[in-house]
Amino acid sequence: MELKRGLRALRRGGNPDDALLDRLIWAWDNEGFSGDRSYMRRVVEAARAVQGPVLECGSGLTTLLVAACAGENLRACSLEHVGEWRNRVRDRALRCGLKTEVLDAELVSYGDFDWYRVPEETPTDIRLVICDGPPAATHGGRYGLLPVCVSRLAPGCIILLDDAERDDERRIAEAWQREYGLTCDWRASGNGVFAELTVPATVPSGGLQAHAAGGRNA
Ligand SMILES: C[S@@+](CC[C@H](N)C(=O)[O-])C[C@H]1O[C@@H](n2cnc3c(N)ncnc32)[C@H](O)[C@@H]1O
Repeated sequence: MELKRGLRALRRGGNPDDALLDRLIWAWDNEGFSGDRSYMRRVVEAARAVQGPVLECGSGLTTLLVAACAGENLRACSLEHVGEWRNRVRDRALRCGLKTEVLDAELVSYGDFDWYRVPEETPTDIRLVICDGPPAATHGGRYGLLPVCVSRLAPGCIILLDDAERDDERRIAEAWQREYGLTCDWRASGNGVFAELTVPATVPSGGLQAHAAGGRNA
């Protein structure tokens, strides 16, 4: 199967060039929702370099890229609110012989925003976050990552926020910088921009406890 072949090539250290990524995007067959090639290339590089747990917000092809490229002893967990989608990603990972955890994480209300209810088994000391969910229509979009999960993020943790050419994602990246002291590089990708943010050594703690408990049903 084409997906398995492509992922195996990446696992063996193959170059994530346009031809290989195009093959994977084609084989995954969900082009409208897949990140673009520059974003995926950065996901592959970051997963190859990471030395600790990886968290993904919203699962898909990038889940498989991380599973293929991160060290075999590292935990890679994805939060996914759609059961059918979770099953699809888990099934493909299994068929490709990849280890990953796609966690059942419904979207719940945290008052000012909605975000995933974070399962207890979600790792701490996270070193890399692939942030391509929840979907744009979610109240507050992807903002909840920092208020809900900041205590799980290691100093120096890298967050790859896709779709930062959109006003909402740009504002979210700016709010994270302002409120949590993250630094941000804006990176051009095929048709847009993604943001590469870094968690500082010391994060302001004000207001975090209010969101740590897990939210209410949205
Ligand atoms: C933008 S997608 C994540 C894509 C992933 N990073 C990738 O590269 O494939 C974010 C969320 O959209 C939802 N989703 C993915 N494909 C979808 C589809 N074809 N229709 C509706 N929702 C979809 C899933 O719940 C997923 O968590």
